[in-house]
Amino acid sequence: MKTIIEPFKIKSIEPIRFTTVEERTAILEEAHYNPFLIHAENVMIDLLTDSGTSAMSAKQWAGIMEGDESYAGARSFFRFEKVVKKLTGMKYIIPTHQGRAAEKIIFSVVGGKGKFIPNNTHFDTTRANVEFSGAVAVDFPTEEGTRPELIADFKGNMNIPALEQFIQEKGAENIPVCFITITNNSGGGQPVSMRNIRETKEVLKRYGIPLYIDACRFAENAFFIKKREEGYANTPVADIVHEMFSYADGCTMSAKKDAIVNMGGFLAMNDEAIASSARNLLIITEGFPTYGGLAGRDLEAIAQGLDEVLDEHYLTYRLRSVEYLGNKLTESGVPILQPPGGHAIYLDAKRFLPAISPDQYPGQSIVVELFRQGGIRSVEIGSVMFGTYRADGSLQSPPMELVRLAIPRRVYTQSHIDYVIEVVIETFERREAMKGYAITYEAPQLRHFTAQFAPL
Ligand code: F0G
Repeated sequence: MKTIIEPFKIKSIEPIRFTTVEERTAILEEAHYNPFLIHAENVMIDLLTDSGTSAMSAKQWAGIMEGDESYAGARSFFRFEKVVKKLTGMKYIIPTHQGRAAEKIIFSVVGGKGKFIPNNTHFDTTRANVEFSGAVAVDFPTEEGTRPELIADFKGNMNIPALEQFIQEKGAENIPVCFITITNNSGGGQPVSMRNIRETKEVLKRYGIPLYIDACRFAENAFFIKKREEGYANTPVADIVHEMFSYADGCTMSAKKDAIVNMGGFLAMNDEAIASSARNLLIITEGFPTYGGLAGRDLEAIAQGLDEVLDEHYLTYRLRSVEYLGNKLTESGVPILQPPGGHAIYLDAKRFLPAISPDQYPGQSIVVELFRQGGIRSVEIGSVMFGTYRADGSLQSPPMELVRLAIPRRVYTQSHIDYVIEVVIETFERREAMKGYAITYEAPQLRHFTAQFAPL
């Protein structure tokens, strides 16, 4: 087979500012060793997130000029609505400024004290919005989904027996909705199978609980189904997407991922009463229902992006470029969460730095070294992000210590990724010399964004 090439050529570029190891050492010190506090112009390769960092196409930029900025009834809204209806098959489409705004609205409508919201794995903003409504967020990953070294096709799946047991324990009347996140971001960007979505729906249907999809990376998930699930090899991705959504009663979407735009999102559903309450909230917090929190031009760019993301040459390149990074690291012995996910590679910091205990933040140590050695910005997903304190002040760590290298869509070429590979391998080779970190300042919530660190 020939090399899989980027299925686009580059029309407009942004220069990268080159820095030296000495300069980056000073930048790190100034940022208190927290990648969120580094100015973006000081980053050479930015793998902090795949959210809102994608490159738009010429057609999307043309859509920006085409945007109809009327307050009510804008043409751009109807184009957007038509595309989203076709994609999801849902009746009511509500634009929001990003994914978490859709989450805030739906959980304000259906959540609240005494309610439970299950999910295969909640993303952190989803969990925060469930909890903000007073409800309890509960994760149901499968056993294989929590084992980083295990290679399996659908590690993002919902643990259906555990979900059903939970419904019986808590009572269906206390579970207003169940979510399924595709791909499972917090679980490593791992896909969910069609069978798992269908069977989750079958169980929920018996109890009268609606199923909503957290659809941020729906196209990547659909392409994994095409490549890995029996019976889908010859099915067009668009049909796979339709089938996935056919099992859902609603969805939340961050367009900053698989709609390949820099800002936007939506909420969609079939239930008229929920849609009506959601629209009332939308008007208070986001805007009139034909623009939500967005400009007409954003709606145009989303509509176009949702079409482009279904292109199978694009999806082949997308999944392959992430897999390429993962495979090269694996070949060199760098421990990663297996198999490579759809949007990111997660370094397994516990195996990368076994001598550094979780309370000395091994993931943060890797994040700092990748920046120092190569100007690469990544993010710790472990004890810094999810650690809590026990009553005696000791750290309660999450099960995994990971470092995420998220790949923006259509932004970096293979030589950028080859450079990333070299820097990660070099860092791995000198891991014996790496030290842990202490937190010197932290905010009471979501501490990773603003925490300050000092090397030990
Ligand atoms: N759900 C999932 C699965 C996500 O990954 C995100 C965002 C959201 C919801 C919220 O969407 O940012 O538009 O409000 N994930 C980004 C990330 C921030 O870096 O993984 P948003």
